[in-house]
Amino acid sequence: MIIGYDDYYFKEVFSLNHDKIVNISTKRGFLWPSFEIYSGVAGFTDYGPLGAMLKSNVIEKWRKIYVVNEGFYEIESPSVTPEEVLIASGHVSNFTDPMVQCLECKDVFRLDHIVEEQANLSVDGYTNNELDKIVVEKNVKCPICGAKLSEAWNFNLMFRTNIGPKRNKSGYMRPETAQGIFIMFKRLSRFFKNKLPFGVVQLGKAYRNEISPRQGVIRLREFTQAEAEIFVHPEDKTHPKFNEIANEFFVLYSAKNQSENKEALTLTAQVALDKKIVANEILIYEIYLAKKFLNEIGIPDNVLRIRQHLQNEMAHYANDSWDVELKTDKYGWVEIIGIADRGDYDLSAHSKHSKEDLNVYIEYDEAKTIKKTVVKPNMKELGKKFRKNSSKIIEVLSNIDPLKIKEELENNDIYKITLDSTNFNIEKGDLSFDEVEDEVKGEKIVPHVIEPSFGIDRIIYGLLLHSFNSITLKEDGKDKVKDYFKFTPSISPIKVAVFPLMKKGKLPEIANDIKDSLRFNGFTVEYDSSGTIGRRYARSDEIGVPLAVTVDFDTLNDNCVTVRNRDSEKQERIKITELNSYIENFYKMLM
Ligand code: ATP
Ligand code: GLY
Repeated sequence: MIIGYDDYYFKEVFSLNHDKIVNISTKRGFLWPSFEIYSGVAGFTDYGPLGAMLKSNVIEKWRKIYVVNEGFYEIESPSVTPEEVLIASGHVSNFTDPMVQCLECKDVFRLDHIVEEQANLSVDGYTNNELDKIVVEKNVKCPICGAKLSEAWNFNLMFRTNIGPKRNKSGYMRPETAQGIFIMFKRLSRFFKNKLPFGVVQLGKAYRNEISPRQGVIRLREFTQAEAEIFVHPEDKTHPKFNEIANEFFVLYSAKNQSENKEALTLTAQVALDKKIVANEILIYEIYLAKKFLNEIGIPDNVLRIRQHLQNEMAHYANDSWDVELKTDKYGWVEIIGIADRGDYDLSAHSKHSKEDLNVYIEYDEAKTIKKTVVKPNMKELGKKFRKNSSKIIEVLSNIDPLKIKEELENNDIYKITLDSTNFNIEKGDLSFDEVEDEVKGEKIVPHVIEPSFGIDRIIYGLLLHSFNSITLKEDGKDKVKDYFKFTPSISPIKVAVFPLMKKGKLPEIANDIKDSLRFNGFTVEYDSSGTIGRRYARSDEIGVPLAVTVDFDTLNDNCVTVRNRDSEKQERIKITELNSYIENFYKMLM
């Protein structure tokens, strides 16, 4: 009996693709329940040998797009984070979910989720009071024992810890990788020579003590994020490559259409901007890149939807947010990527709490001439009135906004200043004001941040779900079901399977040499010599190996091997001496 989250999965009949992929991925070493020999703990998952390879290929594809193609730079910061960082970011007070407890069995639940399940309502962003009301009106009960529920309270999702043996410094496991980038902004800005825009990425673990995780890798307490923080000028959210994507189509489910109960719209990027459905070019470009990444790893457009957050659903830091959602047969639409305009929320918050300047000095292309008002002290009058204090008073006045002094004098005839606890009244005749022209070379601004945030584990789930193929073939007059992951070759964990037809004569030796030579050339190879050749093909198909090489008795005469394609099942005879370049070409054409 497999324990841990599989208890939950295996209760179901294997009628959904979900169940089939969980079955195969557990059996074949993609995803395993964590801490299994100690009965498992919900909200954690292990990646088995094939899962870890698949995940690392997906991550490399992500890096190829964001780090290589987009030219963003990657950093790595600690996941243990001091409390003051997360107080500043708002996570200590705001990173909560509504929790309830069953008054009978005492189990705890995330209230918005059970309300959605039982009352069939979408309640993202509802307050606890609003949720409590629905519980009464719709008779929402404990999903385990059916008893009454407590009132809701906010549960903070962060894992708290102590830093150091004296336990005098509190910290949390980071709830998102993004904060590490904001904290380093000053150094990063210098690294990028204070030129906007620039993008920084971080990939790594994030931790959330989810209230009641019952959805396998969809809701983990420790998961992998890949996030990009793109720092832009607040008044320039154009994208240099927007023209290249202006005519691309997107299925966009705007907040307006959701609240009016209308369908999602299929629009081009240009129309989405013209109709102000998406706020700016960078956001839509990032939506495009996210979709391109998903398509490239093998998740097609027809299982994706791009949904805008409703105003009350937005995270505390966001002023516009779009989720890339995945269609699933078990959980409905699931968010796999969040793309948010975080404005200057984070940099301003960290600047305020750390008292560090987190701005960028932007030099104008050409100096600007601006008109400004300056104060001209009437030395004679001031000297007469304030004697030895007059020079100090002039210094104080020079540090005050002249327009403020002018306005005060116009309204009240007097401007008051305090010097060494003594009050001095400045009158109209003590000063005059001049308009002068000044040359300004630049300005200090706090950049805005656009953030695509990818949950790699949910993406792996989507990949397994939508790469899964089940076809019925005729073999010797009988139906044969072929269940397999039709992974796109570049992300398939194993690139080539090598089989000696029989464990006889020189066949294993030749097959072994082929395996070594392919591995030496950079291909991941599975060597399998047990069972019939049909069983071996079925096993390698199941885990998605695109090519299988068989060494047979003819090989001893013609020095050729049979190469079989997973999808077409076509077989070709290839010379051993040409095998490496044949396989290289196959992958080159598809990468
Ligand atoms: P949800 O509403 O489903 O809890 P979220 O809105 O909290 O998700 P974000 O805070 O936007 O998610 O996190 C960014 C990405 O991180 C998500 O798109 C998702 O892919 C991933 N993610 C968030 N929480 C989890 C989790 N508990 N397990 C696995 N991945 C997660
Ligand atoms: N960085 C976005 C999130 O994790 O919420």
